[in-house]
Amino acid sequence: MKQVVVARYAQGNPKASDFRIEEAAEPQAAEGELLLRTLYIAVDPLLRFSLDESTLTGGGRMDLGAPMIGPTVSQVIASNHPDYAAGDYVEGRTAWAETTVVAPDKSDYRGPPRKLDPALAPVSTALGALGGPGQTAYEGVIKVGRLQVGETIVISAAGGAVGSMAGQIAKALGARAVGIAGGREKCQGLLDLGFDAVADYKASDFAAQLKAALPDGADVYFENVGGDVTLSVLPHLKRGARMPMCGFIAYYGLGMEGPGPDHLPGFYRQIMNKALEIKGFAGLFAGQKGLDDIAGWMKQGKIRFAESFVDGIDAAPEAFASVFAGHNHVGKLLVRVAPAI
Ligand SMILES: NC(=O)c1ccc[n+]([C@@H]2O[C@H](COP(=O)([O-])OP(=O)(O)OC[C@H]3O[C@@H](n4cnc5c(N)ncnc54)[C@H](OP(=O)(O)O)[C@@H]3O)[C@@H](O)[C@H]2O)c1
Repeated sequence: MKQVVVARYAQGNPKASDFRIEEAAEPQAAEGELLLRTLYIAVDPLLRFSLDESTLTGGGRMDLGAPMIGPTVSQVIASNHPDYAAGDYVEGRTAWAETTVVAPDKSDYRGPPRKLDPALAPVSTALGALGGPGQTAYEGVIKVGRLQVGETIVISAAGGAVGSMAGQIAKALGARAVGIAGGREKCQGLLDLGFDAVADYKASDFAAQLKAALPDGADVYFENVGGDVTLSVLPHLKRGARMPMCGFIAYYGLGMEGPGPDHLPGFYRQIMNKALEIKGFAGLFAGQKGLDDIAGWMKQGKIRFAESFVDGIDAAPEAFASVFAGHNHVGKLLVRVAPAI
């Protein structure tokens, strides 16, 4: 079977050449273990942190020459664990490999693999609308952003898995959703998902587009990006606006410490003058209530699971690199490794 191993730590934004495809022997499941066949791999931006040579978080860094690890959906091929049976679908953090072995009782911080119900929705959505991105969007909009009916939310990286869900959740709650994304095609994709207005941060008239999209300012800024996009949004925030700080992808390629002098003094002045409330959050999972709400909105047609696919495990390194280089996919980009049996 094939697997993707880490060839070198990323310098700047990740490149496909930071990885290597290797042939490996089929693993065997021992007592208490599951043999899994990978169906989908999620190329999540936060995986960049585990590819940093000088990570400040200490743990979590990948070993060179070892398989890359991240969120996946798999099918159980053989089970030596009483809670799982062959044929079950599961979501968890596993190797980027065609087949892999996990021990549910010894799993990482996210706990044992989550069993999925294929009757509820396609199992790939466990990595998008009904997975980490959907739950992150839900918590960021509702709990951290405290978005109210009739308010306006502006969302950066709105074409991504989290942002596209955040905008649709905002609409389902009766708010106005404005999305920022790169390129006309992506912005059109957001309008197709029901966003009220968009602004293309790669266009030369981005500032004018943003002004037109936010004639009365914004009550919430769902922050996914940082850098110049954020500096452009700040003047449009109302007094007392909330800023759920979900991510800062524009900085990920700079390593954990970032560059030297930056725009922070101006940024802090805006926080002070406007009494902005900024609250960071990470790893907030909405749990069953959130998943039920999202599934309910999907059933009512209020939320669509935007996802797109590239095929074969060989495509995983290039797909991961494309997250940072700008691709045209709206919603969750997944690597489709194999069809379910
Ligand atoms: N706090 C948490 O618990 C948590 C959980 C999950 C994700 N996150 C964060 O949430 C953010 C979105 O994640 P996701 O899963 O939605 O990712 P995703 O589906 O891979 O989308 C990433 C988006 O980022 C945009 N982007 C990439 N580089 C950019 C740059 N330099 N400037 C502006 N936009 C850029 C791309 O859109 P364009 O083509 O429009 O540039 C792309 O749509 C990331 O910052 C991620 O780290 C946080």
